[in-house]
Parts: sequence; C-alpha cells; structure tokens
Amino acid sequence: MGARQGDSRHHCRGGIPVVQTRWIRLCLAISLAAAVALTGLPDGKAAGDDDVAIALSLAQFLRSARTVISSNQDLINDPALGDKGLGAKVVLDAAIEQYTAATGVDPNSIDRSSREGRLLAAQMEAIVEVMDANQATINKPGLGFKGFVPAVFARLVNEQFRLKMGQEADVKVTAPTHLVRNRKALPDSWENDVLQTRLMLADWPKDQIFTSEAPNRGRSSFRVLIPEYYGAGCLQCHGEPKGEIDVTGYPKEGGKLGDLGGAISITLFH
Ligand code: HEC
Repeated sequence: MGARQGDSRHHCRGGIPVVQTRWIRLCLAISLAAAVALTGLPDGKAAGDDDVAIALSLAQFLRSARTVISSNQDLINDPALGDKGLGAKVVLDAAIEQYTAATGVDPNSIDRSSREGRLLAAQMEAIVEVMDANQATINKPGLGFKGFVPAVFARLVNEQFRLKMGQEADVKVTAPTHLVRNRKALPDSWENDVLQTRLMLADWPKDQIFTSEAPNRGRSSFRVLIPEYYGAGCLQCHGEPKGEIDVTGYPKEGGKLGDLGGAISITLFH
C-alpha cells in the first residue's frame, strides 16, 4: 500500500487521537465545526470542499441515523403494536437532530451546491427511501423480531446512496474478514490492508482514522477508514460466547467490550 498522504498522528488535549492532513486537523471527539474553527482551512478551500471533513460528515450522518434505529429497537420489535409511528420523516428529523447535537452544525444549513451538501442530501434521501420501503415490515402486527436492526438499516441506506452517488462517493460499513457477517460487507484489498496493518493493531490509538489516496474499483480516490468498537449494546449479538446464535441468526463473534468491530469506509472519487 502506498504511503499515507501527508498525514501524521497527533493528539488533542485530553489524549484524543487525531489525524493531521495537509490542511486540517480534526479531532473526532469534538465537533467538525469546532475543529475547523480551531485549526483554520487552507487558502481558497471552503469547509464543504475539504475531503476529510466531507468524509467525517457522511460517517457522522450515517451514525446519527443508525442511533435513531437503535434507540427505537424495542419499539420496532414490539409484537403488540401495529403502526410504530416510525415513518421516514420521523427518522430523518431525529437523525438530523442527532447529527446537530454531535457536530454543532445543522446539516440542512450546509450549502446544497457544495459537495458535502449534495452528498448529505443524497444520504437523507436514501434514509427516506429505506424507511418507506420497510414500513410494512416495521408495522407488521403480531411479529416481534423483524430483522430490522441498525446494521441492516445502515447497509440498506448505503446501498441506496450508492445508486444515487456511486460515481462520486461511496459509504460502506466493513470489518476484518473474520468478523464479517454479510458478504456485502467484505473489505476490499485496501480496506483489508488498513484494517490488518493499522486499525487492528493493539497500539492503534482509539478512534484514530486512517486516510489515504488510494484507488477504489480502479478509480483514483480519497479514502478514509473510521474505526468502530463494540460497546455494551453490541455484545448481545457480537459478544460471547463465541458461536452462540444471536437474535438475528448469526453466530456471535466472541467480541469483548472495546474491541474493534469494524470500520466505516468512505470513498470520495476524483
Ligand atoms: C441485534 C444484533 C446486533 C447488534 C446489537 C449489533 N449488531 Fe452488528 N451486525 C448485526 C447483523 C445482523 C449484521 C449483518 C447486517 C447485514 O445484513 O448487513 C451486523 C453487521 C455489523 C457490521 C458490518 C460487517 C458485517 O459483519 O456484515 C459491523 C462493523 C457491526 N455489525 C458492528 C456492530 C457494532 C459496533 C455494534 C454496536 C454499536 C453492533 N454491530 C450491534 C447484528 C447486530
């Protein structure tokens, strides 16, 4: 794999790992807006044009929407209730609220003619389409677990996003090969290499992203991998005992709290 594109490791005050690109330092744990305000931007570059900022913004919006599904999981799984009141607009509005709380930026305030604005708008459309397409499943009375979990939702959103923006950008949730459940999530060679030789290493600073110029499907692109770790809520499915079948029908991975579970992989094609 080629050398990283001018990035190096740094730590924010408080030990939060960050990456320095040629232009901007971003602390994942603080808002993008604050990071931009703190570090400034290169001459002639608007925030919406910065590749790292755009990638982190797309990842944050996906995470925000996934959080909405996970906080409504008990409602979705309720066999006694028909209409769950979890339509596309409800979910999208809640995702926007989550994103705004996490970043300090209302995504609707981002210029729709900027690259970030266009890509976020496509992500929002993708969320609406997935929620619309799954209303019958979600509202089916008499059925408890419906298989509509955050990971499935996120994959469906990313698939819809790809249909719209596949020439321009790609958002994917992937994992080290031995942890992959759905074959569609299998890492490509760049993702696999970065996972194996960087993100999975014991000394890789928690939450530190990896960025690089690297081809994706034969096209030159800017790529970002954002690690994801198992929290307590993940372990009912990905935890121990390894091999036991979880509620979704997959064998548990035997993961432990804080283990790397996978990564959000963002590609911005040139
Ligand atoms: C209710 C069970 C359940 C919980 C809880 C859960 N997952 Fe998953 N996870 C799944 C299923 C099922 C898939 C496969 C989804 C699909 O079909 O694409 C999956 C897929 C993934 C993937 C994509 C790679 C793959 O294996 O296909 C990652 C990464 C992942 N989960 C991490 C997490 C993390 C991190 C958490 C906690 C924040 C979590 N999961 C919580 C069931 C769960």
